[in-house]
Amino acid sequence: MSVVSKYNRISLIYDFIEAPIEIFLYRKWREEALSSLKGRVLEVGVGTGRNLEYYPAGARVNGIDNSEGMLAKAREKAESIRDKGRKNVTLLLMDAENMEFPDNTFDYVVTTFVLCSIPDPVKALKEMRRVLKPSGELIALEHMRSKNPFIARIEDLINPIMFFFIGDDMTRNTVENIKKAGFTIIEEKNLAFKDVFKKIRAKT
Ligand SMILES: C[S@@+](CC[C@H](N)C(=O)[O-])C[C@H]1O[C@@H](n2cnc3c(N)ncnc32)[C@H](O)[C@@H]1O
Repeated sequence: MSVVSKYNRISLIYDFIEAPIEIFLYRKWREEALSSLKGRVLEVGVGTGRNLEYYPAGARVNGIDNSEGMLAKAREKAESIRDKGRKNVTLLLMDAENMEFPDNTFDYVVTTFVLCSIPDPVKALKEMRRVLKPSGELIALEHMRSKNPFIARIEDLINPIMFFFIGDDMTRNTVENIKKAGFTIIEEKNLAFKDVFKKIRAKT
């Protein structure tokens, strides 16, 4: 089953099953990473739109995802935010590996828990670099393979289950993938479970 089919299938219950980790971990990381962004922002793999409430009113946000089911949920969240008169959000069905935006379009590209599920993450990261302005920045909250052998072994054991249900590969070397796409890392901060969850900022 393709990653798109998996996310279409899980979209109705995604927010419910993610609620515990959202409350205990993700929520504060999202707010810290996104609440000061300005200008044109591209969020890749916007999912059910869980980041939308954290962008400041001045940011012009384009969110893309290739799952229509996940995007439908994000549209509901975008509508409720719009009702409060707060945000400028456009949501589009698009593949991160082949984006339709021109070169040098965005001030920021954001990925949160996405580089584990895009089938070819380096190809998608090259696209992100292409659509960023030369002064632009990649902001990523991601989980990845730990350098600690014990933690990495646990990730290896859980990985087949995660991959089967949501196409989530826990064994990727995401920092290396970001570098492979041509980015320069300007911040790499461990967030939880030693070096599994990280915040990464990178320049083009
Ligand atoms: C784990 S979810 C994360 C959603 C959201 N970013 C969040 O923080 O809750 C991964 C998302 O990436 C999307 N995705 C996976 N591969 C993609 C691709 N090639 N192009 C666009 N979106 C993709 C999935 O459909 C899914 O919505």
